[in-house]
Amino acid sequence: MTMLETLMKKRNNEELTSNEIETMIQDFTAGKIPDYQISAFLMATYFTGMTIPELTNLTMAMMHSGDVLDLSTIEGIKVDKHSTGGVGDKVSLPLAPMLAALGIKVPMISGRGLGHTGGTLDKLEAIPGYQVEISEDEFKAQIDKVGTAIIGATGNIAPADKKMYALRDVTATVDSIPLIAASIMSKKLATGNNALVLDVKTGSGAFMKEQDQAEALAQIMVKIGKEAGMQMQAVISDMNQPLGNKIGNTLEIEETLDTLKGQGPKDLLEVTLTLAAPMVVMAQKADDEVTAREMLMRTIEDGSALVKFGEMITAQGGDNRVLGNYNLMPHAKFEVELTAPRNGYLSRLDADAVGIASMQLGGGRTKKDDVLDYGVGITLHKKLGDAVTEGESLMTIATEKEDITEIMDYLQEHLVVGDAVKVPTLIHKIIK
Ligand code: URA
Repeated sequence: MTMLETLMKKRNNEELTSNEIETMIQDFTAGKIPDYQISAFLMATYFTGMTIPELTNLTMAMMHSGDVLDLSTIEGIKVDKHSTGGVGDKVSLPLAPMLAALGIKVPMISGRGLGHTGGTLDKLEAIPGYQVEISEDEFKAQIDKVGTAIIGATGNIAPADKKMYALRDVTATVDSIPLIAASIMSKKLATGNNALVLDVKTGSGAFMKEQDQAEALAQIMVKIGKEAGMQMQAVISDMNQPLGNKIGNTLEIEETLDTLKGQGPKDLLEVTLTLAAPMVVMAQKADDEVTAREMLMRTIEDGSALVKFGEMITAQGGDNRVLGNYNLMPHAKFEVELTAPRNGYLSRLDADAVGIASMQLGGGRTKKDDVLDYGVGITLHKKLGDAVTEGESLMTIATEKEDITEIMDYLQEHLVVGDAVKVPTLIHKIIK
């Protein structure tokens, strides 16, 4: 079948066969199909959707378009976690060492931030010396020895996704649930893990603003993963306000360390436990999630998770003295307070606005090759529903620039001190 015939079928809402999908993805990856034909496929998919068999075949074809890691030499069940991205979302950082402290293998391939949500790799690079680019052999050796490693993609993972995402970006087809699901799951399946827990965010700072959309995406990704033989679970969690209190690269490592010392914010710990508990069960280290939670809490109480985080830092070339001395990480020159205009309750604190402000300070990227200021960011002193008094600091802004009037004005516009407000539920739903 030619690409033209495949396109006609898709346009007419007929189901594509696995062979048609595989051929299309292989030829696209090899540069044999022009961008305009794939763009037409993307737009047709945007409008007609995909059946589950089509979607599974698309995901598998995209996964096999590049390297697939073979982690079979590492003993035990390998578990992974993925978030669709949020502001202040640093959950992978405490989660991985907590699990590793229980003897669970957690190989994690993470990304960099682009736009208002931060990237785990950027945060780790605030630690002096930390290397996110290590070889596949070093990665596997570290998983064996330490139990966890958080690195950037090794080799050539799902190149079809890279090419397709670039086209989606310029053809208004990014926000298609089947295309997002295939994009995320092709990369996750290529990492060779046995179990995956997804954190699908919903709310103003999330990719999926509406909860029903987030649920639809989660359901479909769970289905694809199960079809491919992975243990799967998804959590729909809230992203109407930032997660935790610190946003920015150094600041988020500080908050991770606080959490591992039992002094972190409650919401961050709750999301971490909600995601990590099923991973403990999937790894067959506990029979149920209640027991798993207790085991995870113990890794904080006995200090073993903090020790693991230090071992991971050392294994990846970083300076583990940051565990006890946060001043070893870059910090911004100035701190500016944003204060409450009146007495009342914090009733609006848009996650995306805080993320955008942090990005404008230099903590995130607007373009792929932007250089980051690791020390800048925002520390929230109040979250939704908290009582505030006029003149009290709502947040501290760490900045390299002396004049940040525009950023302050922007933040003021996106927060409201008003009457008492219903605080959004943190965990909306679990999808198995
Ligand atoms: N993240 C991805 O990896 N792919 C998408 O399509 C959207 C978010």
